[in-house]
Amino acid sequence: MEKSMIRVWDLPVRIFHWLLVLSFTGAFVTAESERLRDVHVVLGYTVLGLLAFRLVWAVVGTRYARLSSFAFGPRALADYLRSLLTTRPRHYLGHNPAGSWVIYLLVLLGITAGATGYATYNDIGGEWMEDLHEGAANAMLTLVFVHVAGVIVSSLLHRENLVKSMVTGYKLRHDEHPG
Ligand code: HEM
Ligand code: HEM
Repeated sequence: MEKSMIRVWDLPVRIFHWLLVLSFTGAFVTAESERLRDVHVVLGYTVLGLLAFRLVWAVVGTRYARLSSFAFGPRALADYLRSLLTTRPRHYLGHNPAGSWVIYLLVLLGITAGATGYATYNDIGGEWMEDLHEGAANAMLTLVFVHVAGVIVSSLLHRENLVKSMVTGYKLRHDEHPG
């Protein structure tokens, strides 16, 4: 059994992921409180710092952490979605194309929320910047729900526990991935 397990997510990716979950959630729940503004700002900067690290790790990290292993165009996305309707949905060891597109958007929105938060905090831009900040944060929250739903659906579809893999780093090797 042990032999058919393969390490997919390296330690930095896993630590990045769960710290991102904590800091994003923390920034969100402290957002409306005047008293907790400092906490909000620190957590917001933590989100930005984590994303900056992840962009670097997308170039120099291990195989499945690198963007080159999950850079999918619209065609790959459409092919993957179509395969979900068949009896043999396509399986990926790393991020699948649908998950990858949600991840691209999560990262973009996280950077937008962080940057507009910085601007708001430093009185750059005024009212519209505040609106943009709140809008980016809310859009990100919506996508987090899509992300978690996708993780659950994908886990059921491929009969594998993706959440457990994001904790341990390991996945079961499928037949279609020999070697
Ligand atoms: C709360 C905010 C969340 C954010 C911003 C977020 C963001 C992300 C990002 C950026 C990745 C890509 C990981 C990488 O390659 O570095 C990812 C992957 C993943 N996330 Fe989340 N995530 C969140 C919550 C969650 C939660 C609550 C769960 C568990 C239920 C979860 C489960 C996963 C899993 C399993 C993967 C790997 C998916 C795969 O196998 O392709 N995430 N997430
Ligand atoms: C990246 C993660 C972040 C998230 C998810 C987030 C989320 C939010 C949300 C939802 C609000 C609106 C609160 C309301 O309803 O009034 C807000 C307000 C605010 N955020 Fe952030 N934020 C983030 C990062 C930052 C950063 C990095 C800073 C500063 C450097 C910051 C500074 C502020 C300030 C000053 C406000 C109050 C704006 C106002 O007066 O309406 N945020 N944030």
